[in-house]
Amino acid sequence: MKFVVAIDGPAAAGKGTIAKAVAARFGFAHLDTGLLYRAVGKKALDRGHGMLDGGVAALIAGELTAADLEAEGLRGAMVTRAASKVAAIPEVRQALLDFQRRFAARAGGAVLDGRDIATVICPQADAKLFVIASDQTRARRRLSELLKRGEDVTFDQVLADLRSRDARDAGRDAAPMRQAEDSHLLDTTELAIDAAVDKATRIIEQALDRARKRISG
Ligand code: C5P
Repeated sequence: MKFVVAIDGPAAAGKGTIAKAVAARFGFAHLDTGLLYRAVGKKALDRGHGMLDGGVAALIAGELTAADLEAEGLRGAMVTRAASKVAAIPEVRQALLDFQRRFAARAGGAVLDGRDIATVICPQADAKLFVIASDQTRARRRLSELLKRGEDVTFDQVLADLRSRDARDAGRDAAPMRQAEDSHLLDTTELAIDAAVDKATRIIEQALDRARKRISG
């Protein structure tokens, strides 16, 4: 059975953690679509010796391979910023569209997390979630991740980076980040991971029931 879970939301709100956990729980395949944009951003930076060229980025997006998604350094600060810049280029998004739709169409269920999954990539998804958290909470979570990885950053830098990335992701013309009308809003500000995953699990179980009834009825 095809079954698609779309999880969108701003950076560090917990969507990746939730996506991974529910994919494992239901035995669905998981695609972190942010990795696609990160891989394009990194390759574009590498080819431009640190400078970003939009035209080159679109070509790179068309030639992306699975190995590119496992490159080192995809989570670093420079690449993160580059990802959000190349993600605003319509040709880059277009080049990555088919791959994401094919991934979603696989039998056995798929969870995709990103910014435009419920609105653009899979508007017919069976379950849609939009995960948010307060800026302060997201910055705290991201800071602790970065410090664990040995990066030398402060809370204020992380907060400013998150805010400018959110503004770029929500303000762009091409597939801006926004909540789909039929998405469930999940605010994780006051929620521990387990509680957030439980809430998402319940939403997905209800959608699975509906999908099974559609098939049997
Ligand atoms: O999710 P993550 O923070 O790894 O995404 C990195 C960047 O990739 C985002 O800031 C956003 O600009 C872009 N992105 C996107 N659409 C997606 C997933 C990520 O534009 N579906």
